[in-house]
Amino acid sequence: MAYYSGDLIEEVISQNDIVEVISEYVVLKKSGRNYMGLCPFHREKTPSFCVSMDKQIFKCFGCSEGGNVISFIMKIENIDFWDAVEMLAERANIDTSRFEVKTYNDKIDTHKKDLKDAIFNINRDAGLFYHNNLIELLKEDNNPVKEYIIKRKLDIKTINKFGIGYATGKVPLYDHLIKLGYTKEEILASGIIIENGNGKMYDRFYSRIIFPIFDIRDRTIAFGGRAFSSKVLDKTIPKYVNSPENDIYHKGKTLYLMNFAKREKLDNIIIVEGYMDAIALQKFGFKNAVASLGTALTENQARLIKKYTDKVIIGYDQDGAGQAATMRGLDILVNHGLNVKVLKLDHDDVKDPDEYLNKYGAERLKKCIDNAISLVEFKVSILEKDLDLENFDSKVKFLTGVSNILSKIDNNIERDMYIDKISKKYGMSPGPILKEVEKGMTKKNNNDVAIDMQSLNKKMHLITNVRKRQEQYIVALMLSKKPPIQQEIIKNIKSSDIDNEDVRKIYDFILSLMDNYDINKIDVLSKIQDEDMIKEITDIMYIDISGYEEKLLQDVLKNKKKEKLYARRDEILKRLDENISKDESEIIKYELNQIIIELSKLK
Ligand code: CTP
Ligand code: MN
Repeated sequence: MAYYSGDLIEEVISQNDIVEVISEYVVLKKSGRNYMGLCPFHREKTPSFCVSMDKQIFKCFGCSEGGNVISFIMKIENIDFWDAVEMLAERANIDTSRFEVKTYNDKIDTHKKDLKDAIFNINRDAGLFYHNNLIELLKEDNNPVKEYIIKRKLDIKTINKFGIGYATGKVPLYDHLIKLGYTKEEILASGIIIENGNGKMYDRFYSRIIFPIFDIRDRTIAFGGRAFSSKVLDKTIPKYVNSPENDIYHKGKTLYLMNFAKREKLDNIIIVEGYMDAIALQKFGFKNAVASLGTALTENQARLIKKYTDKVIIGYDQDGAGQAATMRGLDILVNHGLNVKVLKLDHDDVKDPDEYLNKYGAERLKKCIDNAISLVEFKVSILEKDLDLENFDSKVKFLTGVSNILSKIDNNIERDMYIDKISKKYGMSPGPILKEVEKGMTKKNNNDVAIDMQSLNKKMHLITNVRKRQEQYIVALMLSKKPPIQQEIIKNIKSSDIDNEDVRKIYDFILSLMDNYDINKIDVLSKIQDEDMIKEITDIMYIDISGYEEKLLQDVLKNKKKEKLYARRDEILKRLDENISKDESEIIKYELNQIIIELSKLK
């Protein structure tokens, strides 16, 4: 991993507008000077997630998550600091090599970083090992692996392009990796090798065809291994075995072959279920094919797609399970603002796009893709399938279901077109459908509660106790970019005067920054990497003190003085309880009097 100078952080922050970046993940609505949306970090129905364009920070008033654009990417992509910086640099086309330095002294979690690097490298080397195994095998005659590869119509070009391999047991992968210099811990952390009870190491994918899974930066992050030939018939052996999740592989954040798809100018993306479907599609020229690998689509995958295109075609298996999976995926994609269509294969004797392509060819599939049906049509067709429309009750059920589906369409024209189309198709009069749809729509609008910043602020106040709030003002004043005020604070408030540990940490940090920087000229937040500290400072940055700086300073100083007096008062009272000389008693009683007078003046 390259080490970068801190200047890259500032560059990345200034080149990636936080509102734009977050909009790629969250639907934001402008609300006064802020943007509001549903928080991606916790479940909520009304928006409490707030992005400030002026301050370039975000904050959730519900779950208290907050930070700058880098913290947002770290959190949402589940990656660490420098990966987030690199990702944002790539997004803004910043040439990171300009910022590379030989040594890097800031605190980073080096151990974790190294382990992650090691797993990336182990995956790369294991992938190569598997791939070379397969290439060697293909040179031999008469072996079941080669037969299978031929049967699945995997040509050498495809095998090379997607790094397809074979996990043989002949030269153990574990020994190979040890020879390359990896430690046992690193190898086990990759999940490719499993240690059994006797301390024996074996290959998780032993005797399987290997499909490397890449991230969008072309790094191998996991593998899928398919059993082949007679073994598949043996139901005790799973058809596919996959790498477990680890530091670098998060199943729900990955789309297989997205790294290839994203190289193209994408009008839309086709999501299929399996490795072989995505590979076959790409092989036949559908370069926009990716696979979700048999799991339900996740929000993260929807966001990933949204980065490249607004249009998705779901090409899941045509069986019941595939249709159900399609259903589940639809809403997630739609909720992320994607336009979704569903692929219907025009032949029933094939189950998935791979089989279709091999039997009917690319041209025909292209036709099916062009005729992909809309989400609404798909949902209606599913509804229809289970119902006998000749039956009265079923018909009522169908109508209600259809109305429900249609009431979710936002566009009026589109909605009316569907009402027209469906009423004609099923020989029903449009009136009752329209009425039902309208009923469904009023319900929906009532759920759309207006965003009320004031009540959010109130909520915020309640969760922060008064004492802490006072101390947060100290930091807020330090961030006010008003040097005379800052000087007054530094003169009067020592770090040890601050009770709350989180606030104190920030205060200390700002003071230490002042040794090297003019804090009024830098982005203080960009200098912080600790998550808790980021949360705390964003909380503070959201306190709007402009115009009140002088008054707050006076308050803070007054409170500080009060605290000191109270402390001294308590000391004296305690001392008076002890066995002390008359002289001392008199002196401190006099002092106590003075304190009480002072305190009454300060009230
Ligand atoms: N899958 C899995 N484990 C299984 C079965 C399936 O991880 N035991 C995942 C794989 O990613 C697979 C996808 O689900 O690619 C779809 O499964 P399926 O439709 O059964 O397989 P195909 O992809 O069609 O595989 P093949 O054509 O090789 O039979
Ligand atoms: Mn298949």
